[in-house]
Parts: sequence; C-alpha cells; structure tokens
Amino acid sequence: MTQTGRKMRLSALGAAEGGELRPAGADPQITGLCVDSREMQAGALFAALPGSTVHGAEFIPFALRMGAAAVLTDAAGAALAGPLPVPVIVHPDPRRALAKAAAAWFGAQPEVMVAVTGTSGKTSVASFTRQIWQALGFRSVNFGTAGVEGSVQASLSLTTPEPITLHRLLARLAGEGVSHAAMEASSHGLEQRRLDGVRLAAGAFTNLSRDHLDYHDGLDDYLAAKLGLFDRVLPRGAAAVINADDPVAPVVGHVAQGRGQRVITVGRAEAANIRIEASAFTAEGQRLQFRHQGRVHRADLALIGGFQGANALMAAGLVIGCGAEPDAVFAALPGLAGVRGRMQLVGRRANGAAVYVDYAHKPAALVAALTALRPHVAGRIVCVFGAGGDRDRGKRPLMGAAVAAHADVAIVTDDNPRSEDPASIRAAILAACPEASEIGDRAEAILAGVDALQPGDALLIAGKGHETGQIVAGDVLPFDDTEQARAAIAVLDREEAAT
Ligand SMILES: Nc1ncnc2c1ncn2[C@@H]1O[C@H](COP(=O)(O)OP(=O)(O)OP(=O)(O)O)[C@@H](O)[C@H]1O
Ligand SMILES: [Mg+2]
Repeated sequence: MTQTGRKMRLSALGAAEGGELRPAGADPQITGLCVDSREMQAGALFAALPGSTVHGAEFIPFALRMGAAAVLTDAAGAALAGPLPVPVIVHPDPRRALAKAAAAWFGAQPEVMVAVTGTSGKTSVASFTRQIWQALGFRSVNFGTAGVEGSVQASLSLTTPEPITLHRLLARLAGEGVSHAAMEASSHGLEQRRLDGVRLAAGAFTNLSRDHLDYHDGLDDYLAAKLGLFDRVLPRGAAAVINADDPVAPVVGHVAQGRGQRVITVGRAEAANIRIEASAFTAEGQRLQFRHQGRVHRADLALIGGFQGANALMAAGLVIGCGAEPDAVFAALPGLAGVRGRMQLVGRRANGAAVYVDYAHKPAALVAALTALRPHVAGRIVCVFGAGGDRDRGKRPLMGAAVAAHADVAIVTDDNPRSEDPASIRAAILAACPEASEIGDRAEAILAGVDALQPGDALLIAGKGHETGQIVAGDVLPFDDTEQARAAIAVLDREEAAT
C-alpha cells in the first residue's frame, strides 16, 4: 500500500490505457495504490488481480468498506464483482496496468537502468555492471536475490519486487542520488509484469536451462516469460545484450531485432560482438583475451570460473550499450570483485587446498560450477551439496547426476528442506549419485568436506551461496556456508597442527 498524503487523478496514473474505464470519464482523486486489501486505506486504487488460487476480486467488497476510491481488474474480476459504487478500470492485462500506475505514482527512477534475465548469472552480471559503473564514477546499485548492493544497501524479499515495492525503491534510490541501477528480472517477475513500468536503457539474456518448472508450464513457457523482457518491457532502440553461446540466443536475438533493439552479442561464437578468443586459468583467477570492434583486449580477472569471465563481459556489453566508452569499460574489468556466494574463495587449508562457496542450486549451474572450477584445481574436487524442498522436484536426480559426473568426491546434505522430509530429498539425489556419502547435517557435511582435502584439492560447497539462514519446517535457522567453512578450516588445521 502506498500512503504518502499525496493525491493524483486516476487518469494521471495511466492505468486505463489499453483498458476500459467505467463509467467513462470518471476521474476521482487517488490517495495511493493497493494490491493487498488488508493494507487498504481510504481513497486508494485497489488492484484486484487474478491469482493462481483466488481472484483478487473476492476482496473488492472489503476494499470498498475500507474506502477504495476506484478498482483496477480484468474482465473476470469485473464479472465476479458485479456493479460497483466506484469507478472501475477493466483491463486485459491488469498487472501491466498496475506496474504503469506504480511508475506514474512514484515518478522518479535512476536515470540509467538495465535488467538482466536468464536461468543463471543474473546476480553476477548485475553486480559486475554496477561495479563497472562505480569504477566510471557513477553512484550505482544492483538489486535482486542478494538485496540492494552498491552505493545504497537494503534487503529485498523477492529477486524482482512487485511493482509498488519496486517503484518505491526506485524513487528512493533516485532521491539518494543513484543515477545507475542494474536489476534482476526473474521469470516470475516478468510473467507477472512487475517491471513493466521501469524505463530501461538495456537488457541482457544470460542463458536458459531447466528451472522453476513448478511454476512455468514447461521450458517453452519458461522461455516465453524471459523473452518478455525483450518483446514487451525493453523499448525500441535500447541495447539487447545476448550470450551468443546459449542455444536459444538466436531466438532472443530475433525477438530483439524485431523490436528495433540494438543487439550486442557476447561469447566464444565466431560472430560475437565481444568475442572471447582465449582464457587461461590460475588458482587465483583467469586471463581473458577478447576482441571488440576489430581490436584485441586482455584482462586479468580475479574471478574463478570461465562463466564469471563471460558474465563480466556481458556486464561490459550492458555498460557499453548504455553509451560508455569501450576502452574505459574494459579497463575496469581487472578491478571486479567476486560476488558474495558465487564461486567465492572463502578460505584455504594450511596444506593449500581451497574452499569455495557457490550458489548453484540447479542442474546446469552445478555442471557449470564444477566444470568451471576444474581448470583452477590441480587435485581432486570435493563437492558438498543438496536440493531445496517445496521446489522443482524433477531437478533432484539431475543434480545428483551432475555431481556424480563432474566431482571426484560427493557429499549429499540438506539445503533448505522447507516443509519436506529432508531424507526423501537426499534419497532422490542419491538415486543418481550412488557413490556419494550422505550427511544430513549441513555443518557436519561441510566439516567432512574440509577434512577430506589433500594438497592441491578444492572443496565446492554449493546451493546456498550468500544465504545466512536454512529454512527447515517453516523456521529459518541461522546458517552461513562461508562461516561454517571458515570455522571448519580453523578447527581442523588447529587439530592437525597439534598432532
Ligand atoms: N553465466 C553462467 N552460466 C552458467 N552458470 C552460471 C553462470 N553464472 C552463474 N552461474 C551459476 O549459477 C549460480 C548462481 O549465479 P547467480 O546468482 O549470478 O545467478 P542468478 O541468475 O542470479 O540465480 P537466481 O535465479 O538463483 O537468483 C552461480 O553460483 C553459478 O554456479
Ligand atoms: Mg539472482
């Protein structure tokens, strides 16, 4: 609910565009926007949106009792509500209309905004984009799964906030002098039109692989949701930065070109605009050689994992797409810091073995993380991982198979079991990873993983990344993989030094 003491005419919200206002010409003063009738305040516009289980129109009577000045809904909602004593906007896409209204209500947004979509890499690309902008002297943020980071910090409950929260945040950021912002566009957020009111200068597509099939009706539906960034949200003339190495890149490129967007491709593909020609890996990072506009560039990145090198160049593509000078952008690459909980080196044993924390919690991300780690590791890769409860169950055996194929030693443990029986989740993973050992207690599993490390080995603790809590049966128990790993290193090295 927005309640700022301000007033605006219903017409000024632009919510009726593309819809039907009943009665025609009605234009009451509006004192705020509301989607949750429990937060309803007198004079607000109540958005009665279709939900996956109930239609918001069920709550119109209550919203009216609380003083709603007008209602926004769809044809089904209007039919459900019947004749109303206040003006109604009947819109074929009420979620998009609400996003537009929220943009009008809050007004201000950071001048230059970009959005990143894709199954994996959104947080990383958004963070690298922000870091490059900061290196160029702009007051900047990135926001999504890990909250708001950069020149302003704040926590967020959703990777892509719902429109009222989103535009309240954008107005606050603009008010605090933030001129540049990179946001994550999740498939849920795009499908629900949450960022349709954001004025974007550029958008990026990282990759597509199996995920969220508990929400989307198959991979095509999932792709369609992501394409929404290019075929609906991003305006004509904006830059569309596309990972040229992903199998669906041609589809994304075709949609973006069809909408008159400037396509910038990044990757190893022959025709890529920013083309990775070579990469060399060390224990600390990688050296990238890439070509742009006929010139060869080299950059030493303190980032682990080839895909983080590609993510960094995607970010460079976004900043160049927003008008920055390429050489200045590329000069900022060596200064990029790794993203919290993404292939993050959190410590080393006294014997030199490295311990990494990563957020990979999808089959393709696990394959990517393990294969990307391999060139940085002389010895064995030990992997501690699990899978989340109340989420896409079909991906569990795929995650087991991924680790069985790409790690030398595997330990299956609990991630966020939520309301599910942890043992049954582990069993589904173990079915495809029979060599693995099973240790349900995550702290114990991390200790066992650290204990297994010989000189030259590396441990990858996957799945929770930056998270600082473990969700078990409705409770969020404090748990931080980085902290646990560091404690395990300290205890085991002390014990070893004592013997
Ligand atoms: N370009 C990439 N290709 C493949 N895997 C990647 C890529 N970038 C990151 N990953 C993997 O995905 C994990 C999550 O990365 P990141 O947080 O940047 O992605 P995300 O899209 O924001 O994920 P989420 O949807 O969970 O917010 C990383 O820890 C890494 O294992
Ligand atoms: Mg993310």
